[in-house]
Formats: sequence, C-alpha cells, structure tokens
Amino acid sequence: MKPIHVGLLGIGTVGGGTFTVLERNCEEISRRAGRAIAITVVADKDLTRANSIVNGRAKVIDDALAVVNDPNVDIVVELIGGTGIAKELMLKAIANGKHVVTANKALLAKHGNEIFAAAQKKGVMVAFEAAVAGGVPIIKSLREGLAANRIEWIAGIINGTSNFILSEMREKGASFDDVLKQAQQLGYAEADPTFDIEGIDAAHKLTIMAAIGFGIPMQFEAAYTEGISKLTREDIQYAEELGYRIKLLGIAKRKANGIELRVHPTLIPTKRLIANVEGVMNAILVKGDAVGQTMFYGAGAGAEPTASAVVADLIDVARTMTVDPEHRVPHLAFQPDKLSDIAILPMGEVETSYYLRLRVQDKPGVLADITRVLADLGISIDAMVQKEPSEGEALVNIIMLTHRTIEKNVNAAISKIEALPVVASKVTRIRLEELDK
Ligand code: HSE
Repeated sequence: MKPIHVGLLGIGTVGGGTFTVLERNCEEISRRAGRAIAITVVADKDLTRANSIVNGRAKVIDDALAVVNDPNVDIVVELIGGTGIAKELMLKAIANGKHVVTANKALLAKHGNEIFAAAQKKGVMVAFEAAVAGGVPIIKSLREGLAANRIEWIAGIINGTSNFILSEMREKGASFDDVLKQAQQLGYAEADPTFDIEGIDAAHKLTIMAAIGFGIPMQFEAAYTEGISKLTREDIQYAEELGYRIKLLGIAKRKANGIELRVHPTLIPTKRLIANVEGVMNAILVKGDAVGQTMFYGAGAGAEPTASAVVADLIDVARTMTVDPEHRVPHLAFQPDKLSDIAILPMGEVETSYYLRLRVQDKPGVLADITRVLADLGISIDAMVQKEPSEGEALVNIIMLTHRTIEKNVNAAISKIEALPVVASKVTRIRLEELDK
C-alpha cells in the first residue's frame, strides 16, 4: 500500500522526538498501520536546527504554508504551538482536505469548537492525544476505552512544572521563588512561566478532557483558574501534618445543576495514589459509573513521551482515513449534533471542602467568634489545630478543615472572619478533595 506522507510543522523538542520515533520504530509502525508512515517535508523557521535533525531524510523548508498546500501531504502534524499562525495553518490544512495531528492544547481549548466544526464539514480528522498529559493515552482512554460509562468526574495532575515545584517545596522546605528558578534552570519551566504556574496550561488540558468526558463544547473561558504562585511552604507543611498533600489539580465534575470546571491547588489525602505522583510526572483519575475510579500515569512532557502520542495519532489516522467519516470516532467522543449544553457552574456554586488558615490573637473567645461565623453559614468543621506561637509572637495560626460546602458560603464566612478585630490578616483558603468516591 502507498506510504502515508506526513508534513511536519515545527521541529523543536516534540517535532524532533516525532521524527526519531517514527524512524526508529518504522517497522513496528507499518505492521500496525498496515502501511509505512513517513515524514516527507518539514517546515521550521530555524533551518539550521531542522537540517541537523533531518539530515537529508526529508525536505526541509521554512514555509509552513507550502506544507499545508502540498498536494503530496496526507497528514499535517502541527507542532508550532500557540493560537496565532498555528490556527491559520490548521484551518488551511483542513480546508485543503488534510488530516491534522496536533499537540496544541491552547489552540484546541480556545478555538476547538471552530476547528472541529471545520474538520467535520470537510470530513477530516483532527487528532490531539499529545495535547493532554504528553505520552499518557488519556484522550484515547476517555474517548474509547471508557465509552460505556457515564463519566462522573476527572481529576488530574496535568502540569509537570507546577508538580515539580510543589514536590520540591515539600521535600526540601524550599520557597516557591527558589524552586521556580531551579525549574527554569532545568528547562522545565519556560522563561515566562505564567502558563505553567498560574494554572493556565492545566486549564487548557482540563477543558479538552471535560469536553470529551462529558460531551460538551470546549469552554476554556468558563474554567476557573488559580495557580500555585501564592502557596507557602508553611501551608504545604501544615497540610502534610494533617495527612494531606497539596497538588495543582484540574477537576471536572458532573453535578445535577451543571459542570464544575476548575484548576487550583488542592489538598488531597496523602494515602491516595495520586497524592504520591511527584516531580514532573502527570496522573489523571477518571471516575466512571460502571468502571469506578481509573488512574492514568506517565510523562506529561518531553521529546519522546510526547512523540509517542503524536505517532499513535498518526497510526490511528492512517488506519481510518479510508473509513467513511460518519463511522470514525467523533472528535469530541460524542456525535457532534448530540453535544450537551449543560452549563459550567460559576465558582460560587462549586461544592468542596476547605483548608482555612487564620492568624489570630491568642485570647479567650477568639475561637468561639470564628466558629459562630462558620456555624451561621452552615459550614461544618471537620478538624482543627492551633499551632504554638513562635517565641515572642502574640499571634497564632489556626488551621481548620471543613466538611463539604458551597464556595459562596465560604467566601461569605471568610469576609466576616477577616472583619473580626481578633483576626490579624487575610485568611488563607485552599480547597480540599478526598477523591474517595
Ligand atoms: N509545560 C507543560 C508541563 C508540558 O509543565 O506539564 C507541556 O504541556
């Protein structure tokens, strides 16, 4: 059978890995796909870098548009990233009737609805396993492996950089700023680390998982996003003492009145498997009504782990490109005319538990004042500790864990507690999930 010709847009870390894996495993890959898959043309602005990787084994040009317009290219692999030129190129490739494989989570989270509609119209595939959790086959699992289930919730550590920072802060007692510098030196965090540390990268990935898990459109703008930059080693330490670990979790949960879609630092019991995912690794828990909890673990970034996902998509596309489009797995797992319009819940309506840390004066009646505020708002306390004040300090830290409650009640309680004269500073609030059912 005629080989599949692939045009690669961008040969940086993941593109280089894709080139290497496709070549190294070409025999296994063609045994699986039923035909050879070869990168025939590569477009990259940095021709020197591209030529040093390709080394004469494919054509190298600096014009990405020429690749998407090339009649000999069957599949375009988009590894440029971002939402600018990558979007134009992807839409052009689709308009030209080419299948697309991409790792671009930002583009899909923000413009996926438009891209999938265009692909649907042209009868082409847009495959994106590499967009979420690098080499972990979570898209395939959610879309196909778990297709019998009504997905109840998804909770994942889906940003390796922030997980590395949290692991180092906990293990070494280091400050956020120091570990961030280390992450940058190791090449984990970008020079501008905002997307990683402020939860934006995780929200892109969560948006994609929620769409295919629940059969809803991409709604990145509705996701609540809070990063790890304000976390202190003190809170990480207190959480540990209480039997919890703080992780940046992306959580998508189906509720009777809508979908919760949120990324934030979260206390999870240390005894949970996912609490022990450390360093740059990723892990995703998926709860289905039939299967129960399943967990997917692996490298969320890196050249070959991410290439593993890109190449798997290439094989998938190669196998099904001759299939009638109506009989392929739909882009978002559900038939496009059956997507649900169930709303994303505003953060005030989210239900979870809370870790609250208060700096208060150490004198009679203080706890009574605080617990009265909580009781008046129907917030039940699960555990509470008062830390010894440091030598010569008049203020003490009180840590409270609450039972599950609605976030707007906690917001109201925090405002009232902060207004109490005995409370010395802003309340630290970190959400808590037991992840037990
Ligand atoms: N920057 C991401 C992370 C990897 O730190 O997990 C690419 O999605």
